[in-house]
Amino acid sequence: MTKPRVPETDQGIQGELLVETYDQFSQNMRDKGLLGWNDLLAAGIDHGHALEIGPGPGYLGLEWLACTNHTHLTGLDISPDMINLAEENARAYNLSDRTTYVLSSGDNLPFEDDYFDAVFTNGSLHEWAKPQGTFNEIWRVLKPGGRVHISDLRRDMAAPLRWMMWMICQPRDIRPGFITSLNAAYTPGELQDLLVETTMQACAVKSNPFGLTIQGYKSGLAV
Ligand SMILES: C[S@@+](CC[C@H](N)C(=O)[O-])C[C@H]1O[C@@H](n2cnc3c(N)ncnc32)[C@H](O)[C@@H]1O
Repeated sequence: MTKPRVPETDQGIQGELLVETYDQFSQNMRDKGLLGWNDLLAAGIDHGHALEIGPGPGYLGLEWLACTNHTHLTGLDISPDMINLAEENARAYNLSDRTTYVLSSGDNLPFEDDYFDAVFTNGSLHEWAKPQGTFNEIWRVLKPGGRVHISDLRRDMAAPLRWMMWMICQPRDIRPGFITSLNAAYTPGELQDLLVETTMQACAVKSNPFGLTIQGYKSGLAV
């Protein structure tokens, strides 16, 4: 039976040491091809101005920029340390001119309605203190015709897969954080229940053995 969810703090990832360790972990995931920018392209997120919520060190969005043309990325994170790191990494990718990083929370997006061509986020949903408020905000800032892609771990992951992912987590110092993230993650059913009460209710919750995604397309019609 799946254990009850244990929420994490609502402060995001803070602190020089933790941020540096997370950066190394995220680089490893990138180098193993496990960050998922291909999933964004497969979901039709391949043009225009995208918003990434909770970019952390920023590699997913930076890789997405590197494999698309004439695109721009706004990354919004609640952690000042992560914003600094993402800006530093954007400079290392030579992509500063195509990125803007904003310190804010996903449940209060400082953007006009119908602003972005796409919104995506990976591994951040389980940290959101107000997931339903964030879903509503994502839908508000998405242009008609825009696409959303949200991916995260699933708490009901089978034990052998948990063990496999725990082993993949490098450097080892990140492993306790992986466990707290897993314990804070949603099950597909819980996520479906959360969505029902939001403006993203028409979006599809999909799952695979390791995680879950929410994918959606905002039509020009009123929802
Ligand atoms: C586990 S990290 C994931 C980083 C990166 N997206 C990845 O895939 O490796 C979660 C990130 O979400 C940020 N975060 C947590 N709650 C947030 C919120 N309410 N609004 C914006 N960012 C948030 C954290 O500060 C952290 O940088």
